[in-house]
Amino acid sequence: MSFTVAIDGPAASGKGTIARAVAARFGFAHLDTGLLYRAVGARTLLGEEPEVAARALRAEDLDNEDLRTPEVAQAASRVAAIPEVRAALVDFQRSFAMRAGGAVLDGRDIGTVICPEADVKLFVTASAEVRARRRHAELVGKGHDVTPGQVLADIRERDARDAGRADAPMVAAEDAMHLDTSTLDIDAAVEAACAEVARHR
Ligand code: CDP
Ligand code: CDP
Repeated sequence: MSFTVAIDGPAASGKGTIARAVAARFGFAHLDTGLLYRAVGARTLLGEEPEVAARALRAEDLDNEDLRTPEVAQAASRVAAIPEVRAALVDFQRSFAMRAGGAVLDGRDIGTVICPEADVKLFVTASAEVRARRRHAELVGKGHDVTPGQVLADIRERDARDAGRADAPMVAAEDAMHLDTSTLDIDAAVEAACAEVARHR
């Protein structure tokens, strides 16, 4: 039997960490859908056409630490505004969502476009300043040379592009539970998410 958890929200809101924890707790598979757009974005930085890169994408391409840089995140956000790119990635995400045993997908449009019938929908937020602090700490920890101001500007630019695009904009589904993690530590955020999943199980 399938059981789908859709987790959406802006950059560094905590949706990926929450999605991984929910998947581990309930034994579900997890797909970070941002990696699909990052993988396409990374290929465009090497000169490939975004639509061609999206159609050629393989699951193996997602397992790549080089996708987690700010440059690739910006490229991802640019290709994510192209309807042909989004369309090429739909089937893979929907098949993943329907797998037996349950699935958690995190992204921007999971509860609205990819899985509008998901069993549980969460929209995770936090202030841009809090999110920038978190992402900055993460990037510095991985050896990236970035300032907090650059990270905040990057996040604001992506937020605006992701929420403002015509096709599958970042927006909470009407029936999503909102989880503001600005003042929640990650354990409290995970517990709130797991309680919501348990309520629908
Ligand atoms: O981890 P972070 O939230 O910073 O980024 P991500 O989830 O890896 O997503 C990178 C970019 O991919 C986003 O800024 C969006 O433009 C795009 N994306 C999307 O459009 N739809 C999704 N379902 C997931 C990501
Ligand atoms: O997937 P997304 O970009 O939404 O965020 P993430 O990668 O799950 O979280 C970004 C960073 O913020 C990670 O280092 C998390 O551990 C941290 N975080 C936190 O400190 N407190 C929270 N309530 C949520 C995330």
